[in-house]
Amino acid sequence: MKGIILAGGSGTRLYPITKVYSKQLTIIYDKPLIYYPLSVLMLGGIKEVLIISNQETIPLYRKLFGDGSSIGMQIQYAIQKAPNGIAEAFIIGEKFIGNDSVSLILGDNIFYGKLDFFYKAVSSNKKGATIFAYQVKDPQRYGVVEFDKNGKAVSIEEKPKKPKSNYAVPGLYVYDNKVIEIAKTLKPSERGELEITDVNKYYLERNELYVERIGRGVAWLDTGTPEALLQASNFFGVIEDRQGTKVACIEEIAFQRGFISRTKFSILIESLPESPYKEYLKNVLNE
Ligand code: G1P
Repeated sequence: MKGIILAGGSGTRLYPITKVYSKQLTIIYDKPLIYYPLSVLMLGGIKEVLIISNQETIPLYRKLFGDGSSIGMQIQYAIQKAPNGIAEAFIIGEKFIGNDSVSLILGDNIFYGKLDFFYKAVSSNKKGATIFAYQVKDPQRYGVVEFDKNGKAVSIEEKPKKPKSNYAVPGLYVYDNKVIEIAKTLKPSERGELEITDVNKYYLERNELYVERIGRGVAWLDTGTPEALLQASNFFGVIEDRQGTKVACIEEIAFQRGFISRTKFSILIESLPESPYKEYLKNVLNE
């Protein structure tokens, strides 16, 4: 299973922050936003990741993660020339995906809690597609999935004015290799994008779409507005301060999931500047 992080979009709702700064690099409490989606892929056991962003921002991601080897990963980069939609990621990433399956996560989506729903989808690696459904107050802002009496998904609509349910589709998707060819058949929507919802509809129509509901014990947080950024920062600030642990600490995850050895972890820690982050990792090493 390969992983793609799409860190695209223009982030206009965060202007002027996004005038000089990519949305996925904005700060959530004590680390850049993109650490959170990257950590979800890592926790799912995915070691080969492609980060897709615009030309201006790729060098900044490279500065953050390099080739990924320090955390036992292989991280590659690709450019999306214009915000042409989420589904374009599979066309851009065709060579990277090769003959494998692929999980896609949006660079501004944060998940926190028990992520078994995702681990299961990755490890079962079914034919078809697995997407998720999460109950929200304002479904019209998202892809919305409707279920029948038996809990089977019957329709998906992108940002419907009159949503048929409160179940939004979060920006985390697991696909078989067909997704590349499906993406190539899509036509841009009214907003000029290749829609991920159209990919999901394709699978739904062929009875190959699995929609797993995410329970309310998991937090799926939005980061699209200044209020949402502040809320997410406060949320993780409270948890980290209370527990003395860090969320989405990619070095810790790499060590604990066996991506890197103890020796490599200790070399990595030594290379970091003196900081509370470094102290935290030293404690993880010595625990
Ligand atoms: C995109 C997708 C939408 C999905 C959402 C999740 O919306 O089009 O289906 O629910 O991500 O964050 P956009 O970010 O393009 O508004």
